[in-house]
Amino acid sequence: GAVRVRVPASTANLGPGFDALGMALNLYARIEMAAAEQTQIELLGTNMQGIPTDKTNLIYKVARMLYDEAGISMPELNIRMDSEIPLTRGLGSSASAIVGALAAANALSGAALPPEELFRLASSLEKHPDNVGASLFGGIIAAYWDGSEAKHIRIEPHERLEALVAVPAFQLSTEHARGVLPSEVPMKDAVYNIGHTAVLVAALAAGDLGMIRHAMKDALHQPYRAALVPGMEKVLREAADHGALGAALSGAGPTLIAFADAQEGRKEELETFLRKTFLAEGIEAD
Ligand code: HSE
Repeated sequence: GAVRVRVPASTANLGPGFDALGMALNLYARIEMAAAEQTQIELLGTNMQGIPTDKTNLIYKVARMLYDEAGISMPELNIRMDSEIPLTRGLGSSASAIVGALAAANALSGAALPPEELFRLASSLEKHPDNVGASLFGGIIAAYWDGSEAKHIRIEPHERLEALVAVPAFQLSTEHARGVLPSEVPMKDAVYNIGHTAVLVAALAAGDLGMIRHAMKDALHQPYRAALVPGMEKVLREAADHGALGAALSGAGPTLIAFADAQEGRKEELETFLRKTFLAEGIEAD
C-alpha cells in the first residue's frame, strides 16, 4: 500500500546558531509514495512550476539513495507531493522534501533505517543539519554535522513561545545567501557567536523567555546577508520595541522570524511592524 508522511517547514540558525539550530514550524509538506508499474511524480502546491517530474526529481533521487543505502532494489514509484511551504524563502522547503522522501521511502522499503541514520543522510544531502533536523525530529534542534557524523538534541519549545514569520514576495537562493559569507571570520566574531548560541540554547531549554532577546544576536552571517534583505536590519534592531522576544533572518532568508510571548498578547502589533517595515521598502509580505 501507499505510505504517507507529513513534514514540517523549519527555520534555521535562530540568529547566532548558524548551521547548528533549527526549529519546526506549523506549515507542512505531505508526501505519498507507493510502488507502481511505472514511475509517476505529481507535485501540487504553489510555485511547483519548473520542478522536474521525471527521475531527476529530488524526491525520487532521495528515495533511490535510501534504497541504495538499505541495499534493497527500488521499485518504480508513484510519488505525490503537496506542499504549503513557500519555496526558496528560508523556510526549509528543500529540507522538508529531503526528509519527507527519506521517511516515506524508509517506510515503504520496510528497511527501517533508524532516525539517526536518516538524519545523517539528510544532513549530507542538505550540507547542513539545522533544517533537516527540525523537519525530521520536530521542536527545536541543536545539532552538528561534521561531514560524516550528525548528532542532535531536541528541545521542547516553551508553551508560550510563538513564532511569527514575515515572508517577503521575493526569492533568495541559499546558494546566493551563502555565497556572500566570508570564508574566514575573526576569532572575536566566532567567540561572540559561541557565547550567544550557548546562552540561547540554555535559555530555550530552561524556558527563560526574557533571555532570548539578549542571546539572539549574531556576527557570523546576518551582517553579511543584511544587504540582500531590505528592512532586515531595522527589524532586527527594533522588533523588541514592538513586542518581540527576539528576531532573526530565517535560515538563509529572505524570510524574517520573530518570537513572541503568547501571554503578552502583542502578536498583532509585531505583525503590523513586520509588514510595514517590508512595505516601506516596497516589498509585499505574507
Ligand atoms: N544554516 C543555513 C544557512 C540554512 O544559513 O545558510 C539555510 O537554509
